[in-house]
Amino acid sequence: MAVADEFRQRARATWSAGDWDSFSRLVTPVGTLILDRVGIEPAVDLLDVGTGSGGNVAIPAAQRGAKVVGVDVTPELFEHARRRAADAGVEIEWIEGDAQQLPFEDASFDRVISTFGAMFAPDHTRAAAELVRVCRPGGRIAMATWANDGFAGELFKLTGSFMPPAPPGVEPPPLWGVEAHVAEVFGAAGVSPSLTRETVDFDFTSVEDAVQQYAADFGPFVVARGVLEPQGRWDDFIEAFRDLVLRFNPARDGTARIRSDYFVITVDP
Ligand SMILES: C[S@@+](CC[C@H](N)C(=O)[O-])C[C@H]1O[C@@H](n2cnc3c(N)ncnc32)[C@H](O)[C@@H]1O
Repeated sequence: MAVADEFRQRARATWSAGDWDSFSRLVTPVGTLILDRVGIEPAVDLLDVGTGSGGNVAIPAAQRGAKVVGVDVTPELFEHARRRAADAGVEIEWIEGDAQQLPFEDASFDRVISTFGAMFAPDHTRAAAELVRVCRPGGRIAMATWANDGFAGELFKLTGSFMPPAPPGVEPPPLWGVEAHVAEVFGAAGVSPSLTRETVDFDFTSVEDAVQQYAADFGPFVVARGVLEPQGRWDDFIEAFRDLVLRFNPARDGTARIRSDYFVITVDP
């Protein structure tokens, strides 16, 4: 199987594990910030890349009047997306597809958005080029990507230190949290990105609650457990994760408020 196909299957297995639909609430404020920043005029054509179950960008954008298409490699999540859209009273087209090979004509959308979605495509230059290709001149692209030195960036490193290395040809997602890399991959597509650094807080009732919700609902943890438990290393991983949560938790009242830094990348092609 070609690397891209194999990676698509891996991504699908990862994000259909656990319960992204429930877990996605943690990043809802990021979707709101991005939609405010790109501006949604009525009837703009908007593509949400790596839409998941649609609750953070696709559905709120449709509620603001955009005509929305959500694309994702994990069609299992569309079942939740359809239910959410029906509850919200909006119509959205959900299409299975890959960020680095988007199934759309050139210049099809006025807004192309991806909150922590396209950053998981293995070839970053191709993914950036695809976002640019499908965006109309005068439109706007926006991505949210985890900062390399923030909580989620550190979590990528922790997971990478326990799990087998990615296959050759797969660029690590945390590179999207390095400004020079972002400038390089969009520069290759002939455009110049602007970045702002932001913070989102992940609130849990306690550190233990955070650990349990990650273990149960976060797909990459469910996949890691399947690998690490038979090796007798799952408890060590969870212990290291608990330490990481404590490092990024300023709360002193027994709750957990994980501060997680990310970049908002905007491009005006
Ligand atoms: C962290 S979730 C974010 C979902 C959604 N954007 C949100 O904010 O709730 C990552 C999503 O990216 C999708 N994804 C991963 N690799 C992808 C790729 N190459 N192309 C399109 N979607 C991808 C996953 O299936 C998953 O739904």
